[in-house]
Amino acid sequence: GKGNYRHFMLKEIYEQPTVIGDTLSTMLHPAQQTITLPDLPVDLKDVPKVTINACGTAFYAGMVTKYWLEQLARVPVEVDMASEFRYRNPPLPKDGLAMFVSQSGETMDTLEALRLCKREGQHILSVLNMPESTMDRESDAVLMTHAGPEIGVASTKAFTTQLTVLACFAIGMAKARGHLTREREAQLASALAEVPGRVAEILNHDDHIAEIAQKVAEARDVLYLGRGPSFPIALEGALKLKEISYIHAEGYASGEMKHGPIALLDEDVPVVVIAPSDELYEKTASNVQEAIARGAKVIFISDKEGIEKMKRHSNPMATIELPKVDPFVAPILYTIPVQLLSYHTAVLKGTDVDQPRNLAKSVTVE
Ligand code: F6R
Repeated sequence: GKGNYRHFMLKEIYEQPTVIGDTLSTMLHPAQQTITLPDLPVDLKDVPKVTINACGTAFYAGMVTKYWLEQLARVPVEVDMASEFRYRNPPLPKDGLAMFVSQSGETMDTLEALRLCKREGQHILSVLNMPESTMDRESDAVLMTHAGPEIGVASTKAFTTQLTVLACFAIGMAKARGHLTREREAQLASALAEVPGRVAEILNHDDHIAEIAQKVAEARDVLYLGRGPSFPIALEGALKLKEISYIHAEGYASGEMKHGPIALLDEDVPVVVIAPSDELYEKTASNVQEAIARGAKVIFISDKEGIEKMKRHSNPMATIELPKVDPFVAPILYTIPVQLLSYHTAVLKGTDVDQPRNLAKSVTVE
């Protein structure tokens, strides 16, 4: 049941510290500050290319993984929506690794992309939440998320546990390829070990985020911006808002603003910005200043340092302050406020949060 929560979605958002911790404990050894992957039927050292396929929110988890794998493991990565990939007849290298991300393990397009990769001789590794699902049976190896059953149609805890597994995988692959110093592994392992506690801290901002949602609920269109690994989180924020509040939202890479979407900006379009203090912060901050100069009402999500820097130049409509963390784990943490923002906006709009119109939990048709 929902316990004391008004909706399954809210309950599932609040379960994240626990389920991320459960998922981490399968690969992270906090005392030794190491990550170990289970035995895989492929030598990660020899993989020429990683191809990731998924749909919807799971696709955004794949997008974040591309940034992680390229940076840490220095392996070429292609990430695609399964519904596009499977009809493109893409060339795949011998001994390539094909990865599939799916909560249900049943999504038709993802499953058919898996079967295509299998026919093409790829090694099949899936990240799944449902044991004994079709993808579980058809994969060479599976890394499980331990999110438990997700009832709300909008994916929340499945996404953050997918990111958790994929972060560990990126570290494991980087190690296998000799691209990770012992010192950096220890840093990343301790940053990951802190994630459940940090998520719990962020959940304490719930009331503040609910207040900000009042502004969002009045809007007809909302933009979400992010750069680097924050770009997929902007896409995820926009998808979550669309699907449960029915407000039109778009996620954009911050750098693309001036190539078109900036024309949409006025005081009626809130702009949600995902901007952790990382090496791309300054770039995003200057895009935000441009937006504010054009009258946009910005909801700026960053850490203390990032918010202070922003306020020296411009005046966002609202800020959401998150703890300062290693930028590597930021995508997991910055997901929480965008989930809560869409949840509270939907509640204000009076929509059916757990069962949005036209949507099914598991999409087993094309
Ligand atoms: C969005 C959402 C969907 C799913 C997508 C893939 O909140 O839930 O976009 O992420 O349908 O589903 P799975 O992960 O079961 O393959």
